[in-house]
Amino acid sequence: MAHLYSKEVIDLFMNPQNMGEIENPDGVGKIGNPVCGDIMWIYLKINPESDVIEDIKVKTFGCVAAIATSSKTTMMTKGKTLKEAYRLTKKQVADELGGLPKQKMHCSNLAVDALHRAMEDYLKKNGRSMDELVD
Ligand code: FES
Repeated sequence: MAHLYSKEVIDLFMNPQNMGEIENPDGVGKIGNPVCGDIMWIYLKINPESDVIEDIKVKTFGCVAAIATSSKTTMMTKGKTLKEAYRLTKKQVADELGGLPKQKMHCSNLAVDALHRAMEDYLKKNGRSMDELVD
């Protein structure tokens, strides 16, 4: 049902960015979709002085939309501080992709949640908390 998807979604599915793992990551977040069984991991490399996301990679076992949204999430957060990246919403990711089919919006757009888990993992390891990211 490729016609359901925008050109941006298809392009990113064909040529995903920032896919894979980071060796010795500073934070890892994993999220599964209980409905379809798809799963994804986000890996972060953080600059400890500036809190900037120097590298972010994602491993996604999922559908076309899951691959496109997770890839887009990494592209929209690389080079940002944790605080800036925390403000990214699923809607912004979907908008940036030219929209998602309604039935795919919730099922596939999981990367922002995985990102939050990876951030939390990093902050906890460093004796910090997610509260710092909330304005
Ligand atoms: S079908 Fe599982 S995330 Fe899309």
